[in-house]
Amino acid sequence: MDLEFKKISEADYSQLIEFDTRYMILESPLTQDSAPPPLKIEEIVTAKNRRDDLFWIWSNEELVGYYWLEYREDCLFLSAIVVASSFRNKKIGHTIMKLMDDICDKRGIKKSALAVSPDNHPALFLYMKHGYEKKRLRENYFGPSYPGKNRFWFEKLH
Ligand SMILES: CC(C)(COP(=O)(O)OP(=O)(O)OC[C@H]1O[C@@H](n2cnc3c(N)ncnc32)[C@H](O)[C@@H]1OP(=O)(O)O)[C@@H](O)C(=O)NCCC(=O)NCCS
Repeated sequence: MDLEFKKISEADYSQLIEFDTRYMILESPLTQDSAPPPLKIEEIVTAKNRRDDLFWIWSNEELVGYYWLEYREDCLFLSAIVVASSFRNKKIGHTIMKLMDDICDKRGIKKSALAVSPDNHPALFLYMKHGYEKKRLRENYFGPSYPGKNRFWFEKLH
């Protein structure tokens, strides 16, 4: 599958929120109890100001997903990867995992990390296949306003 990455710009923010709500919350393996809170515009603005990588994933003129990478002091952090339901299990996730490895290699980043819901089996499988190791459970990951939404913290050394 040929993939093309296009930078998410300010004009795309509402489309990004719609895409994320649809495919991360409504059409995902997560239950209502574990799904993340809806993405907010302020989070996207903060990410852009921080110079995170926020890219649409296109394939043959179709929007198939997006990814969001944050360059933290101690690691490359995968803030989000979301693939449209009808394009899942076609190795797009594998491609983004490899992209993260390449970024770490090129920039000399020694660690990458991500957070994943314990009931998100496709995502858990993908991350473990790419060498990510579970470090701990972070309870109430999204803060006290969203109790019970826990996440495993995964890391990979490069
Ligand atoms: C997680 C997600 C990004 C993976 O993207 P993808 O393009 O479908 O991933 P890939 O096709 O590269 O790989 C998925 C792997 O999961 C496996 N898988 C799929 N369903 C599974 C299940 N129920 N249990 C275990 N493994 C499963 C597939 O077999 C595949 O591995 P393989 O190619 O080695 O066989 C995608 O499922 C998605 O967008 N989910 C909703 C949003 C989300 O949960 N994002 C991650 C938040 S941490």
